[in-house]
Amino acid sequence: MIINAITGGTDEARRINRSLAALTRKYGLAMAVGSQTLAIHEPSLRPTFSVVREENPDGVILANVSALSPIDEALQAVEMVKADGLQLHFNVAQELAMPEGDRDFRGVLDNVARLVKESPVPVIAKEVGFGFSREAAEKLLTAGIQHFDIGGKGGTNFVAIEDQRQGLFAHEFDDWGIPTAVSLAELLTLEKHVHLTATGGIRTALDGVKALAMGAHLIGMAGPLLKLLINEGESALENYLQGFLYRLKAGVLLAGANSIEKLQQKPVIISGKTAHWLSARGIDINRWARRG
Ligand SMILES: Cc1cc2nc3c(=O)[nH]c(=O)nc-3n(C[C@H](O)[C@H](O)[C@H](O)COP(=O)(O)O)c2cc1C
Repeated sequence: MIINAITGGTDEARRINRSLAALTRKYGLAMAVGSQTLAIHEPSLRPTFSVVREENPDGVILANVSALSPIDEALQAVEMVKADGLQLHFNVAQELAMPEGDRDFRGVLDNVARLVKESPVPVIAKEVGFGFSREAAEKLLTAGIQHFDIGGKGGTNFVAIEDQRQGLFAHEFDDWGIPTAVSLAELLTLEKHVHLTATGGIRTALDGVKALAMGAHLIGMAGPLLKLLINEGESALENYLQGFLYRLKAGVLLAGANSIEKLQQKPVIISGKTAHWLSARGIDINRWARRG
């Protein structure tokens, strides 16, 4: 499980990152820091990110920059937290909803290809709540990407959040995006083997068990963990994580498995809207049902 990219850059962010990193160390979780671009331009902010590595010297920590970032910035981000992997966030919907957001995404694929080539650590293409389509993932495969963080629709919704501030989408795009289960299924049908992190709206341990059973290698959460930490404090978050991990393991056992590999051999029935969507996309949902 990964505590996904949230923050960095302020004193409060430093405290949040320290608390999150302490918990990842205690429970053997991975963690991604928030976008590091600010700290690359303002070195005094770097400790608000590097605190994560100090707190968890041997843990799995991921750096985070935009998919449009220049190579030198991406390399600095990796170095800043001695990262084990580099998340490249794709947040086009959010940028377009923001009055001050980016408008020019040309050259992103070439940039990703360069970053994959130059990065000393694996590079992960990460959405932030709108999901990747199979076609988008295929393009990223040509750029050398082998790791995806789905970041599908169903959880934190940055378009809706921006619109609550001064966003430009007038709440007309609140339902935009590919749900996490759909995006996960689409990427699982890619010809090439890819490593998939299921995120975006994972809210219960059972959501996590289902995502892992479908074929995700890792699950992650961001919004709810931050809310709990801010509203109720570190020990409340710790209690929640303990319970979540217990229920995650209980779910795997109840499915008759004692490892994620075995869970992924169990039949999974896809029904309702997800089945309808996948069928419309020509994806054979029985491939999951026939297992076991
Ligand atoms: C307060 C907050 C800040 C975030 N900042 C970043 C960020 O800097 N970079 C990034 O890639 N994703 C960022 N995310 C997105 C999360 O990493 C995650 O992809 C998204 O929230 C979906 O997961 P969730 O539904 O569990 O929250 C942020 C999320 C939240 C809630």
